[in-house]
Amino acid sequence: MIIVTKISDVRTQVAAWKAEGLTVGLVPTMGYLHEGHASLVDKAVSMCDRVVVSDFVNPTQFGPGEDLESYPRDFERDCALLEEHGCHMVFHPEVSEMYAPDACTYVEILSDMPKKLCGKTRPIHFRGVCTVVSKLFNIVMPDRAFFGQKDAQQLAIIRRMVRDMSYGIEIIGCPIVREADGLAKSSRNTYLNAEERKAALILSKAVFLGQRMVSEGEKDAKKIVNAMTDLIQSEPLAKIDYVSAVNGTTMEDVLKIEEGTLVAMAVYIGKTRLIDNFTVGTDGFSMGEGRQ
Ligand code: PAJ
Repeated sequence: MIIVTKISDVRTQVAAWKAEGLTVGLVPTMGYLHEGHASLVDKAVSMCDRVVVSDFVNPTQFGPGEDLESYPRDFERDCALLEEHGCHMVFHPEVSEMYAPDACTYVEILSDMPKKLCGKTRPIHFRGVCTVVSKLFNIVMPDRAFFGQKDAQQLAIIRRMVRDMSYGIEIIGCPIVREADGLAKSSRNTYLNAEERKAALILSKAVFLGQRMVSEGEKDAKKIVNAMTDLIQSEPLAKIDYVSAVNGTTMEDVLKIEEGTLVAMAVYIGKTRLIDNFTVGTDGFSMGEGRQ
């Protein structure tokens, strides 16, 4: 596995691979890797001849007062995990390699998509994500790029960006990887103390409740959102940012549950903001017949 910090070195290596006729996959990450990230790498290794993982805490997607400085980092451990999973190159640039001091060009989606859900409280987040992912696409020029359903809004926005900007990169969405007790794996889980870690289970419990209602035939989005909201509110350490049922492609609110509906939430457990979601028709469950 090659560790690279310079954009020019990535370009040289990828050009050499492409000259050999090899396909290249990209897995963008912010490091502090866990099995969720590893599942993306595994998928990339299974679909591409060479796999590049970027490990970069991107400052432009953090708003003022967010956790940019405290975001967990452990590059050595990341490299060990990546090597184990068959990654060929880790791209680990300094901020100065990615952003000139006077950088002022951004990639931004001008629909309501990035303003919904997480965008309500994180207004510049998806502009930062689109900008850095766009740069990574230009640097690596992969055939395919791999993203987790854990960040369902991010995945939908990247798909839209790739379509609108004609990147010609195939975007592969990968299922949410959970801890044995249900909690979605996240680099931010490390912020939780023992009591909060227990309380955080309320997110996945709400996801499972919503999924069960859908599989039993419930089609009323409001009923599902309300039941999930009530459950989360029963946990004293939880404070809801949002629980919403939206069209999984456009992020527009929906009244009726159908294939492709995204039911997503962000919940504070103490000071830590966690997200979870399910998409109807994926994640190994489907809609029940039940009431129409
Ligand atoms: P990060 O939070 O490190 O996540 C990197 C990728 O791993 C994302 O595609 C995310 O959806 C996926 N991922 C995280 N936890 C997962 C889980 N439990 N199961 C499955 N996939 C999971 O998302 C980002 O970084 C950044 O916004 C980035 C796209 C790298 C741009 O900076």
